[in-house]
Amino acid sequence: MKQQITYSEAETRALASELASEAKSGQVFCLQGDLGVGKTAFAKGFAAGLGVTEDVVSPTFTIVREYEGRLPFYHFDIYRLPDGDSLYDIGFDEYIEGRGVCLIEWADQLREEMPEDAVWITIEKRPEEGPDCRSITIRKENVL
Ligand SMILES: Nc1ncnc2c1ncn2[C@@H]1O[C@H](COP(=O)(O)OP(=O)(O)O)[C@@H](O)[C@H]1O
Ligand SMILES: [Mg+2]
Repeated sequence: MKQQITYSEAETRALASELASEAKSGQVFCLQGDLGVGKTAFAKGFAAGLGVTEDVVSPTFTIVREYEGRLPFYHFDIYRLPDGDSLYDIGFDEYIEGRGVCLIEWADQLREEMPEDAVWITIEKRPEEGPDCRSITIRKENVL
């Protein structure tokens, strides 16, 4: 487990970018944390670290967006998916078994459907330390 504190969106992006630079083909990254905490900001930095030059926009309404970096990058937001069946319908299995790197916002919504070897990233606000302060915890275990 690794926990880091960031004090701006830029710091969160930089941390994510660093993590992405070590990401391996086929790896899955699961993001959890409340609305507005910085999951999409993290995804933007992560994409940059994977060498994606295209602008990353939130996949809230499309569920998944695909990008090309040094590896394919698949960015999911599964907030609106009701169950595991709908995950199957969007081809989730093919994505996670492919050679690309997957990053899934709201992965905790369908926690049981996430692959066992995923990396879990929890982002939390720390209002007592300021409005732009976040704690970012990276774990190999599927827990909050
Ligand atoms: N330390 C920080 N890390 C990430 N985002 C931050 C931070 N401080 C402030 N923010 C702001 O919080 C918001 C996060 O929005 P977003 O990434 O869309 O959240 P989510 O995808 O979790 O709903 C952005 O407006 C961002 O600028
Ligand atoms: Mg988001």
